[in-house]
Amino acid sequence: MTTAARRPVMAGNWKMHLVRAEAEAWCAEVRAGLPAGRAAEVVVFPSFPLLAAVSAALAGSGVAVGGQDLHAEAAGAFTGDVAGRQLADAGCTWVLCGHSERRRDHAEGDELVAAKARAALAAGLTPIACVGETRDERHSGRTFDVLARQLEPLPDDSRLVLAYEPVWAIGTGETATPEIAEDAHAFLRERLARRTGEAAARAKRILYGGSVTPDNAGALARQGDLDGFLVGGASLDPKRFLAILTSLAAPEAALRGSP
Ligand code: PGA
Repeated sequence: MTTAARRPVMAGNWKMHLVRAEAEAWCAEVRAGLPAGRAAEVVVFPSFPLLAAVSAALAGSGVAVGGQDLHAEAAGAFTGDVAGRQLADAGCTWVLCGHSERRRDHAEGDELVAAKARAALAAGLTPIACVGETRDERHSGRTFDVLARQLEPLPDDSRLVLAYEPVWAIGTGETATPEIAEDAHAFLRERLARRTGEAAARAKRILYGGSVTPDNAGALARQGDLDGFLVGGASLDPKRFLAILTSLAAPEAALRGSP
């Protein structure tokens, strides 16, 4: 589990799911079930058309809202794209950069992802920059090379949050074991230490994402270098979302509760 200096993050990535009434029902249920005095920061990433409604539905709850992507430019002739300033105007304080589905489906490379992270910071948003290897890359022993390459161009900014999301674990039901996740997180932190020094690396928040559920969250959350979760599928169900959040607040309790 994370040190006191690193406040854990519970992030829900809705991807291309839900319409407004469903999103508002989610917000109402999560608001009602939020644990008092929770340790983690909570943030949800809806599709663009839902942002304003979700921001309104979560106002005053302490749950933050983020965009799933942004353009690297601050404004311009970019049909279909969204600027950081527009996200902020719709109530966002966070944004995802370089999710593997963006890298895969929209050919986003490492440099572009880094440019988006810089644009997010310039717009006052907290970026979660996603990194992670494919199944082939893992099986051919290239995991750490890929992580190092993806990390390299990202800005050294204390506000930036990293997410290790092995592509083979996303939406597959095959989550990384706690050991695999911890190895990757420790590797990323070690690379950061070489770049920015020990103190900044120790303060960096590194989330895990990929088939996180209430059943596996407790064991993952106990890993020393893991500072929270970026959850896709299980985040759509308020009860599962809240259960995962609870495991972050008290990982020992979650572990005691498991068989
Ligand atoms: P998943 O997605 O939890 O459905 O595997 C995680 C993510 O893509 O962020």
